[in-house]
Amino acid sequence: MSFCETQTRNMYKRRKLTYLPLHILYIVCFIICITSCSTDSKKYRVGVSQCSADIWRDKQNAELRMGAYFHDNVEVKFAAAYDSDERQVQQIDSLINEGIDLLIVAPNQVETISPAIDRAYDKGIPVIVFERKTSSRKYTAFMSADNYEMGRIMGEYIISKLDGKGTVLELQGLEGSSPAIERHNGLMDALKKAPGIKVAASLRGDWTEPTAYKTTSKWLAEHKGERIDMVFGGNDRTAMGARKAFLESGTEVLPLFCGIDGLPGKDGGIQQVRDSLLEASFIYPTRGDMLLDLAMRILEGKPYKKDTLLMSAMVTHDNAKALLMESDEIKRQSDRLDLLHDKANSYMQELDAQRMVNWMTLGIIVLLIVVFVLFYLYYLRKVSMQRERVANTLWNMDSIVGTEDKESAEMGFFSKFRECVEAHMDDSDLSIDDLAAYMNLSRTQLYRKVKAVTGSSPVELLRTTRLKRAYELLLTTDKSVSEVAYAVGFSAPSYFTKCFKDEFGMVPGEVRKVED
Ligand code: FRU
Repeated sequence: MSFCETQTRNMYKRRKLTYLPLHILYIVCFIICITSCSTDSKKYRVGVSQCSADIWRDKQNAELRMGAYFHDNVEVKFAAAYDSDERQVQQIDSLINEGIDLLIVAPNQVETISPAIDRAYDKGIPVIVFERKTSSRKYTAFMSADNYEMGRIMGEYIISKLDGKGTVLELQGLEGSSPAIERHNGLMDALKKAPGIKVAASLRGDWTEPTAYKTTSKWLAEHKGERIDMVFGGNDRTAMGARKAFLESGTEVLPLFCGIDGLPGKDGGIQQVRDSLLEASFIYPTRGDMLLDLAMRILEGKPYKKDTLLMSAMVTHDNAKALLMESDEIKRQSDRLDLLHDKANSYMQELDAQRMVNWMTLGIIVLLIVVFVLFYLYYLRKVSMQRERVANTLWNMDSIVGTEDKESAEMGFFSKFRECVEAHMDDSDLSIDDLAAYMNLSRTQLYRKVKAVTGSSPVELLRTTRLKRAYELLLTTDKSVSEVAYAVGFSAPSYFTKCFKDEFGMVPGEVRKVED
């Protein structure tokens, strides 16, 4: 195999070695990318636009939040309009601008919120209308209990409670909101069937206790002495507001009070029925958990029902105690679930911290690999440069001689020079004068000629020729470095080693290692 071929093969081998750590580096980077991409899954953003803020809405929001615990790919953002149409429209628009993926909305009134709902829907955002209806046709799904039916059943209850005779005062919900209209219609349709029942008035209640208290107080002041047997509040809060007004009016016989919502817990309708503050209530289901499940089905492209009717039931003295016990138990469970969620959260935080440490460790490992690769490349480059220097020197030697053989008109000048050196290779006493004499030249002539053709002095050429032979001996024989040094005419191995290193960039011992 020629020297040139050997060089090429070695270079190829070297390249492979150089690329190997780079491949490892690419694999490490690839793994990092894959792992970091897989941990960053998309989160859906659900916007909830509540028309008001009260204990009923609080319960529903808590259920929505709880529902979100069961899906790790959803974030819920809440907005409460505090019974203002204008505010609700603005809030929906900002939820749209924030880039929500789905809107859940309880419109304050049937007409007023529709343009904002249209805008969301037209932007491709699915809309779930909850509990209060809208005049907009642009929604994806609707979920509610039957408000007309609740009003009607409550009307029938009132008829039976009053034995078909008496006077009813109504406190209506917010004008223009669908539950207010439907509950009123249901109540009136039922009461129409009892000619003995008279409706004294339908007052504004606006779903709030203060408004109901105010309007009832005013009515009572204007209708002193008029007997009322039953008060129907559009919800429990308005029924309680009216009750407060009656109590303060000093009326002789306190009427009975009914409402709607039937919330569990303190200040809820169930407890008010149990404590006989209310005669009856009607559970108006909040079902935030169902709402969120519906939202997720829509977002994840699963089949869903466009209209969901929620079940509801009356609360009376007969079942209030049992319902309360039941709801207390549910509350206890949900508190436990909250606790569990908090625990899971802190566990997740720990995991995150651990993940961070892992990433940092991985980062350090990658850094070390990079440093190692750089050092390795540096080392390979150094070795390769040394080899190139050796190769160049040998090639130069060959070409000098080759040129002399073929082209030089110097009558085999270099052949003769080499012959003489070869013949005295192990003779450390061979001097330039000896060489000049052998070549039939004066010392000066020899100097000029050698210098003109090779650029080196005769001493240097002599040394290079000796060292080239030494290189060959190191490669082709088992001679020790000292033996080689003597064989090529160096009397001191240490000096030989120095000259060899100057010439080839490596100590003699390295020649064998490099060629292995
Ligand atoms: C809660 C509420 C309930 C009522 C419902 C009507 O904001 O006022 O008390 O039943 O809204 O939409």
